[in-house]
Amino acid sequence: MEFQQQLEAARELVEARLQTFFPGGGLEEAMRYSLLAGGKRIRPILTMKFCEAAGGTLEEALDFGCGVEMLHTYSLIHDDLPCMDNDDLRRGMPTNHKKFGECVATLAGDALQAAAFRTVLSVEGAWRHGGRSAVALAAKILAEAAGEAGMCSGQYWDTVGNGQPRTVETLRSINNQKTGALLRAACMMGVCASMGRREVDERCMGSAREYATNLGLAFQIRDDILDAVSTREELGKPIGSDAANRKATYVTLLGVESCETQVMEYTTKAKEALRAGCWPGDTAFLAELADRLALRKN
Ligand code: IPE
Ligand code: IPE
Ligand code: MG
Ligand code: MG
Ligand code: MG
Repeated sequence: MEFQQQLEAARELVEARLQTFFPGGGLEEAMRYSLLAGGKRIRPILTMKFCEAAGGTLEEALDFGCGVEMLHTYSLIHDDLPCMDNDDLRRGMPTNHKKFGECVATLAGDALQAAAFRTVLSVEGAWRHGGRSAVALAAKILAEAAGEAGMCSGQYWDTVGNGQPRTVETLRSINNQKTGALLRAACMMGVCASMGRREVDERCMGSAREYATNLGLAFQIRDDILDAVSTREELGKPIGSDAANRKATYVTLLGVESCETQVMEYTTKAKEALRAGCWPGDTAFLAELADRLALRKN
């Protein structure tokens, strides 16, 4: 199958599954509003495609992927709040707090985080890896990525230091946490979904981790470039948000051109990391995905 067809097939699975969560009114309506607002679904697609590369099927990793997407959506709802980036548009629609108010948006984020873990932990099967439940291992990977050593820590350093001068090394570390951590979890949970069910070479987990780390660094620099040079219509979120928050980014430090070079360098490293794994399945899709994300327009 061509890349585009594979992408659409994976995305359709995710969209259909996400539709089945939170059918109620009230808080569930606010959760569904942001979860189903669109979005590229990169994280669940990575989860499913890493499961496939590790010898499994897309379906085996679908609910792990949906869990990651719920956690990601919660992080976006909170990221947009007035106390953080104070943005009014997300995925082409008014942000959650613009639509439902700050209190409901905060709760919708909180509840999506809880639902993320419930979704991962509700995956059927007693399959084990290395003496522990593969489902518990996946949940642990997600918890570590979300918390005080992962996304939340990155968001903390990103937000508390607005207006402060920063070095490239500091920014790299912040980006690695705020964006890299969840992408890493997405990829590793995909390997986990296959690993619990069949024998998978240990090197695959390390390869997934390294691919995702470099992909995450490229992804956030590309995000910062788009914040500076894209349009509100194309991006589906406000442009100039980083400048409005007096945020130091790779773009303010290095300029757009050097940033584009950095995106390419990290993308190359991501693809190299992929080649270092002993994958029983095809990894061509994952390599091409990295290339496409380096040039993405939204
Ligand atoms: C936006 O993530 C936040 C960052 C980590 C840069 P995405 O660019 O994946 O956003 P959606 O999910 O497509 O809306
Ligand atoms: C991503 O950084 C932060 C998250 C972990 C949610 P940004 O603040 O740059 O993301 P966007 O540009 O608002 O999507
Ligand atoms: Mg932010
Ligand atoms: Mg933001
Ligand atoms: Mg941004």
